[in-house]
Amino acid sequence: MVHQVFVLSLFLDVAMGCVFSLPEDRLVTVDRAPTTRDTSFIDKMKKTGKNIVVFYGSQTGTAEEFSNRLAKDAHRYGMKGMAADPEEYDLSELSRMGEIDNSLAIFCLATYGEGDPTDNAQDFYDWLQEADADFSGLKYTVFALGNKTYEHYNAMGKYVDKRLEELGAQRIFDLGMGDDDGNLEEDFVSWREQFWPAVCEHFGVEATGEESSIRQYELKVHTDLNMNKVYTGELGRLKSFENQKPPFDSKNPFLAPVTVNRKLNKGGERHLMHLELDITGSKIRYESGDHVAVYPINDTAMVNKIGELLAVDLDTVISLNNLDEESNKKHPFPCPTTYRTALTHYLDITNSPRTNVLYELAQYATPNITKE
Ligand SMILES: Cc1cc2nc3c(=O)[nH]c(=O)nc-3n(C[C@H](O)[C@H](O)[C@H](O)COP(=O)(O)O)c2cc1C
Repeated sequence: MVHQVFVLSLFLDVAMGCVFSLPEDRLVTVDRAPTTRDTSFIDKMKKTGKNIVVFYGSQTGTAEEFSNRLAKDAHRYGMKGMAADPEEYDLSELSRMGEIDNSLAIFCLATYGEGDPTDNAQDFYDWLQEADADFSGLKYTVFALGNKTYEHYNAMGKYVDKRLEELGAQRIFDLGMGDDDGNLEEDFVSWREQFWPAVCEHFGVEATGEESSIRQYELKVHTDLNMNKVYTGELGRLKSFENQKPPFDSKNPFLAPVTVNRKLNKGGERHLMHLELDITGSKIRYESGDHVAVYPINDTAMVNKIGELLAVDLDTVISLNNLDEESNKKHPFPCPTTYRTALTHYLDITNSPRTNVLYELAQYATPNITKE
C-alpha cells in the first residue's frame, strides 16, 4: 500500500441535479429519506469538547462546504467547531446550548423552490414554525445562501434568523446574505472576515495565529483488494445498484427503467421529452408534485483527459481517508473506489473550483506561470 498526504483539490460535489440528457440506466426516482431523531448533538459536543456547532441546510454541497470551513476556523480562536447535518440530530436540543460554555450555533442555510428549505433542513423548518421552545441560552448567527434572481431570495436564512430571535435566542452577528447570481464565495469570505472578530469580542478571545487549512485527506492506493468491495458509483450501500433493497431514498435511490421516451417537439432549440419511469416493485408511491431525481455522470472523454493530465491509471483502486478522526465523514465520497469511478460519479469536474481551492491547488502547480 502506498501512503501519502493528499489535499482534496477537485471541485468536490456529489452531483445531484436535474439534467435530462443521460443514459437511461442512470435515471432514478427517490422518495424522502426517513428521519431518525435519536442522536444528541449536545452530548456529542460535550464528549468531544466542541463549543461551536455549524448546521447546514444544503442540497448541492455549498452550504455544507462553508460549514466545514467555519467549523475548522474555530481552531484559530482556541475554540472547537463541528459541522452538523440537521437531519441527523434533534434540534430541539438547541434550548440546551447554554449547558456548554462559550457556545455558539451557526446556521448556513440554502433556499430552494418557492423559498423552501433544502431536504435535509425540512424537518427542522417544520419543527421551528411550531416550536414553543426557550432559546434564551442560545447564541447564534446565520449565513444564508441563495440567488437574488429568485423571488424568495434567501427566504430560509432570513426566516431562521428572525424565528430564533423570536424564541429568545441571542444573535451575536448579523445575517449574512450569499448571492449565487453574483459571487457567493466572495459574499461568504467577506461575511466570515467580519464575523470572527465579532465572535472574539463577544467571547473575549483572541486569534491564536494558527491558520486553518482546507480539508486534508490521506490517499491510500490498494493493490490487493477484492473488487467486490470496491464502489462503482453507489451513493450509500455497496452493491446497492445491483441488489436493490427498499426503503428507497436519496442515498439509496431506486433505479427506475425508462419505459417510454418520446420527443415532443420538432425543430427549434428546445428539446422536450415525454418520459415514463417504471417504479414497479419499489414500494414508492408517486403523487403529482413529488420529485424525480436524475443522477448525472460525467463525460467519459473528460474523465480520460483528466487521467492523462494527471498521469494516473484511472483503474487504480484508492481510498481518500479523512485525517480528522472526529469528523462524521470518513471519506469525501464512497471508498474504496477507482479514480475513474470517482471522476465519473462522485466529483464535479465541470465547474470552476472555488477561490480557496484554487489557492491550495496553485501551490502544487508547475511551472510558475500556471501558478499565477
Ligand atoms: C432549483 C433551484 C431553486 C432555487 N431556489 C431558490 C430560491 O427560491 N431562493 C433563493 O434565494 N435561491 C434559490 N436557489 C439558489 C440556491 O439556494 C443557491 O445556489 C445555493 O448556493 C445552493 O446551496 P447548496 O449548494 O448548499 O444547496 C435555487 C437554486 C436551484 C438550483
